[in-house]
Amino acid sequence: MTSDYDRKMAVNQNHFLDLKDLSGSVLRKILSQAVDLKSTRKDKKQPLNGKTLAMIFEKPSTRTRVSFEVGMKELGGDVVVLSGDELQVSRGESIADTARVLSRYVDGIMIRTFEEAKIREMAKYASVPVINGLTDNSHPCQLMADVMTFEEHRGSIKGKTVAWSGDGNNMASSWIHAATKFDFRLNIACPRECRPDEGLLDWANEQKNHVSLFHDPKAAVENADCVVTDTWVSMGSDASNQHNLLAPFQVNKKLMENASPEAVFLHCLPAHRGEEVTSEVLDGPQSLVWDEAENRLHAQKAILLWCMT
Ligand code: CP
Ligand code: NVA
Repeated sequence: MTSDYDRKMAVNQNHFLDLKDLSGSVLRKILSQAVDLKSTRKDKKQPLNGKTLAMIFEKPSTRTRVSFEVGMKELGGDVVVLSGDELQVSRGESIADTARVLSRYVDGIMIRTFEEAKIREMAKYASVPVINGLTDNSHPCQLMADVMTFEEHRGSIKGKTVAWSGDGNNMASSWIHAATKFDFRLNIACPRECRPDEGLLDWANEQKNHVSLFHDPKAAVENADCVVTDTWVSMGSDASNQHNLLAPFQVNKKLMENASPEAVFLHCLPAHRGEEVTSEVLDGPQSLVWDEAENRLHAQKAILLWCMT
């Protein structure tokens, strides 16, 4: 049962659950604030003074954990970090009850978990904003940093071509969402066995014809402005046979030669050097991966402000 208090508080929350839920103009507004926050980082304004973010991790993290904590602190706020197995959820307390209780202590909840349904449940019962810090299905905070990074180096992503070569995983899904929201072409090269969710591809192509599926990475990368990949085995997924299937999709110098000479390389990290990407590409002149990792901080500060102020 949802109490009157919960119901009243749950309306009009700015949850950041998935790019597909938000309009292109809201996402643009957040990105432009991220750019401002990056350029004024030294100003030390503290708009989240007195606010606390709870961060729940049911999977490991380096970048998400540190960038959210540093981001909250730079904005004047504080964090409480909780691992899934420390919470009573691990002993059967419901997500709904956890959401209700946390909402009485903190001003926002960031959660990294397995099923998307869990963050939707959290958002349904929380009376504070909920932010998706990665699920099996998507990684929207990462995409905000990725688009920001591309644009920082190459100007507007609108009308450009991004090529994904690898597993059709949570990151690939968020790139699909981003292609429709930021209006760029996305060529996805993956083995037949590792295709993104069919329903998601149908959704993308109903929005506009932004996404094309390939099984030949060379064809997908042809003249692309940006080449992206990610680990062959995502957290919590089955490793069996992924390496054999995905080996032809490795991003290496030879594959990069098919992209535009101005093409950049992105990877959300952590990278598995010699698997989905070679060190030659990751450390090479086209790689923007360290700026991309830094931009998690600026993009998420803008997301926190959009959600919490
Ligand atoms: N890219 C990313 O989300 O990294 P972490 O898993 O280290 O948070
Ligand atoms: N696809 C990867 C992304 C890690 C940030 C995973 O889910 O493990």
